[in-house]
Amino acid sequence: MKTILITSGTKGGTGKTTIAVNMAVILAYELRSKAQYPVVLIDLGLDSGTATLLMLGNVEERMPYTLADYFMGKIPDPLSTFYVKTWQIDSDTFKLVFTASLSQYPSQVRIDRYLLRGLLNAVEAISPLYVIIDTPALGLSYDTLITLLEVSTNAILIAIPDHSSLRAVGNVVNLMRDLKASNKLLKPILNMLNIKYPVDALSGYPWTKLLRDIVGIEPPHVIPYDDLFPIVRQALEIESLKLSFYESPALDSIFKYIDYLMETAPPG
Ligand SMILES: Nc1ncnc2c1ncn2[C@@H]1O[C@H](COP(=O)(O)OP(=O)(O)OP(=O)(O)O)[C@@H](O)[C@H]1O
Ligand SMILES: [Mg+2]
Repeated sequence: MKTILITSGTKGGTGKTTIAVNMAVILAYELRSKAQYPVVLIDLGLDSGTATLLMLGNVEERMPYTLADYFMGKIPDPLSTFYVKTWQIDSDTFKLVFTASLSQYPSQVRIDRYLLRGLLNAVEAISPLYVIIDTPALGLSYDTLITLLEVSTNAILIAIPDHSSLRAVGNVVNLMRDLKASNKLLKPILNMLNIKYPVDALSGYPWTKLLRDIVGIEPPHVIPYDDLFPIVRQALEIESLKLSFYESPALDSIFKYIDYLMETAPPG
């Protein structure tokens, strides 16, 4: 089981959830014949539940329990927060398991290390090939990040062309160096790059170079700014694989990253 952590450090709105959800769906599709539940998507945005809403639509009444209840100690077993979404494509089907998040109140629920391991044990019991962990930005404490890095086999850092984002990613890289976990770093992603203006006006350097200098490994994978992306991500809710992904440059780019992911951190 490869456990892939998606984070931008403390910087919000970089596209973590959009990328995590699309990666999870595409991987589940590509690996549909390899396991009963090839992919589990864990939504750690405990109160906003953005990934959950993308998967289910706005249907709180269908969610008696969420991960917030689990991490608050209201329910002992995380399994009651697991959902399966099934897509029908022609005569074939594929399934994606995801954990539900969403809380009625703005909460600062602590992601306890012991409970997080309990959650991952429950995930392991259904033998997925990949677990994709979508994390929140603000609210992700240093301690939580350390725990998440411990339980993950790999981490994908997502930055946007913005100095505060580069700084936030740099802090995660430093933390991973301190933890001797730099080997878990996959190629970082530079999301929402305006490919007509790929250079930072302040320094005169391309954003790709600035990010590479910070992360210290391979040049980043670029996902371009794409007007269609918010629409396509909505479309995922409505059985979208019949859509031509190639009409969306951002989704096309996610497909390419998935090829890299399956090669570098193979399923299983
Ligand atoms: N490549 C892209 N091109 C255009 N829009 C994008 C792109 N990537 C993400 N977006 C849009 O940016 C917004 C923020 O995305 P998203 O919610 O995935 O970010 P996030 O990092 O998960 O945010 P948070 O830190 O709040 O969890 C969404 O409206 C999404 O559709
Ligand atoms: Mg998010």
